[in-house]
Amino acid sequence: MSLPADERGDTAPRSLSWRLDERANAGRENLDAIHVARYDAKEDGDPLDEVRLLRSLGLDARSTVLDLGAGTGQFTLAVAPVCARVIAADISPVMQELLRQKVQASRHGNIECVCAGFLSYEHSGAPVDLAYCRYALHHLPDFWKAHALVRLGNVMRPEAVLRLWDVVYSFQPEEAMERIESWCATGATGIETDWTRAELEEHVRDEHSTFTWLLEPMIERSGFRIERADYSADGIFARYVARRR
Ligand SMILES: C[S@@+](CC[C@H](N)C(=O)[O-])C[C@H]1O[C@@H](n2cnc3c(N)ncnc32)[C@H](O)[C@@H]1O
Repeated sequence: MSLPADERGDTAPRSLSWRLDERANAGRENLDAIHVARYDAKEDGDPLDEVRLLRSLGLDARSTVLDLGAGTGQFTLAVAPVCARVIAADISPVMQELLRQKVQASRHGNIECVCAGFLSYEHSGAPVDLAYCRYALHHLPDFWKAHALVRLGNVMRPEAVLRLWDVVYSFQPEEAMERIESWCATGATGIETDWTRAELEEHVRDEHSTFTWLLEPMIERSGFRIERADYSADGIFARYVARRR
């Protein structure tokens, strides 16, 4: 069956019942006001180091930046002083509310907060020069990750940079049980300032982190060229620099 033009790719009407409900898949904790209020104490994304890296890759005062899955805006707030425009998009209204408060307090005039996700964000204005996605893509099952990457590529200019970090497993399938158990064993007991064992278990069980050797061909097939891939020694985290072809 062939779909009419407006039902192909990223222009598919949202009413189609087979579409993923992004908000329902946003992660229980990201819709929980108590977790969101604690988030910055639990997670520090080294945003200034990231901005330094991205400046060496071409980020400058003319750049349009899309922070997709922006959360509390750690990267958004760090990049705003060095670029022209930042769009901070997130599917969680709870995250967006905190982000809006932080943006207002920062007085940066070039940040736009948008409550939308990988599958629903609609871009307007100059194409994106830098897309930033940290610990967000794993909320989508693999089929939808590929669609999200295609949609993202569609709003980026050729050679624009995609900086992607996530929980992505670089070990082999036969090592999985041992590696995952070792990671979960690093979970803290106090919930205030660190990730607990229960939260790490929930990540593995209920979210959609995948293997590097599945995600990387997906990134390439979706219209990007991977320039750099860094894996943590425990095989749990990966960071990529890719460029839109
Ligand atoms: C672990 S937080 C990371 C936040 C931020 N990127 C950071 O590094 O601090 C994951 C974020 O992804 C968001 N998220 C989940 N599913 C999403 C989707 N489909 N589209 C956009 N954002 C999504 C969540 O609401 C949450 O804010």
